[in-house]
Amino acid sequence: MGHTFALAMQKGGVGKTTTTLSLGTMLADAGRRVLMIDLDPQANLTQGLGIDPGDLEYSLYEVLLNPERGVGFATRSTTAGPDLVPASLDLAGAELELSGKVGRELLLRKALRTVRSEYDYILLDPPPSLGIFSLNALAAADAVIVPLQLHAYALKAMPQLEATIELVKEIHPSLAIGGIICTLADRRTNLSQQIEQEVRDQYGTLVFETVIPINVKLAEAPSSGMPIGKYAPHSAGAQAYAALARELEARYGH
Ligand SMILES: Nc1ncnc2c1ncn2[C@@H]1O[C@H](COP(=O)(O)OP(=O)(O)O)[C@@H](O)[C@H]1O
Ligand SMILES: [Mg+2]
Repeated sequence: MGHTFALAMQKGGVGKTTTTLSLGTMLADAGRRVLMIDLDPQANLTQGLGIDPGDLEYSLYEVLLNPERGVGFATRSTTAGPDLVPASLDLAGAELELSGKVGRELLLRKALRTVRSEYDYILLDPPPSLGIFSLNALAAADAVIVPLQLHAYALKAMPQLEATIELVKEIHPSLAIGGIICTLADRRTNLSQQIEQEVRDQYGTLVFETVIPINVKLAEAPSSGMPIGKYAPHSAGAQAYAALARELEARYGH
């Protein structure tokens, strides 16, 4: 049985999408079967894989409206390796359409039921806001992986996420934080290292050893439509995400 992780943090710009994309493609490079699901109407993950969200026959939108159909019909392969359920531009409208539906937090969980055994890892990339898409991601995940940006207020963002996890536990009791990734580390400053130490003191072994540095290649790669491992294989960013993939395998390995 594979593992389903939601890359969650109720804040934009912390590296959720970059981590989903980079970690997912590194795991696929290592021979793992990976499915990525773009739950953000901004469709950054979809575009980062070189797919145009305005030009899709099926996307997560149709999956959420017809969860009994599963995800297979909306899943496509990518040149980067992982399979993808893309986000389309009409996804933003789904929020309203689903607002009156009973069990609307459980649609993705239901849709994934039949494919979980086909993948080693399913990575869910929600938007920053706590809406229907984030709740669907959390309710469908085995565990939450938290990208924590190493800046002065990093730890201040955790109580809100932990409160959200508590809320989702009412419908999905086994949900828990599966790991914390220190991201956007600035190696030139002591502050970054101080914050990292605080995060490790507070969360111990939940925190991955691997730290993701600020690396311009990671910011450039999405507009090339290539994953970091192809765009700049020798960059610090590529090496960090490769190390993170190995660490994840060691923890959850097969
Ligand atoms: N380690 C990094 N080094 C440099 N830029 C990064 C790094 N991680 C993310 N970025 C950039 O920061 C911005 C926000 O990252 P993103 O992964 O989209 O965050 P989120 O999905 O949490 O909103 C993007 O422009 C991305 O390219
Ligand atoms: Mg994102």
